[in-house]
Amino acid sequence: MNMQKVMVLNGPNLSKLGAREPEVYGSANWADLVTSITERAGQLGIEPDVRQTDSESELISWLHEAFEAKLDVVINPAAFTHYSYALRDACAMITKSGQRLIEVHLSNPHSREEFRHTSVISGVSTGVIAGFGFDSYLLALSQLAK
Ligand code: DQA
Repeated sequence: MNMQKVMVLNGPNLSKLGAREPEVYGSANWADLVTSITERAGQLGIEPDVRQTDSESELISWLHEAFEAKLDVVINPAAFTHYSYALRDACAMITKSGQRLIEVHLSNPHSREEFRHTSVISGVSTGVIAGFGFDSYLLALSQLAK
């Protein structure tokens, strides 16, 4: 069977899950997140390519890679969500070509500080899932499996 490939991209500070603000992001760590994604993807017949970077430039180059390979994307842009027009343009390139891109967040940014209420990514995303911890990613994968 040909597995559906999906890129699961993560922005800055997400490698510090578990240690970073556990009251907001939970006590499970980055490796736990990768395991959860890999397990659910396997059940759904998806082959996930899970990556994390603190670099805006690297994240954009991965979106270019997804675009070239015509892959659907799950992305937690982390703080870049709120201000990176360069990331938005890269996401728009993907969704405007018909590939799906789902923006996910562990927390619900709308219930947090004011600066988190703006996402420059949502307007060019296929959909947004926020506030369900690791389940935000797993729900996105379920949707992409349809
Ligand atoms: C986040 C929310 C962002 O506001 C924050 O900068 C993050 C993580 C989330 O997953 O809840 O780094 O994207």
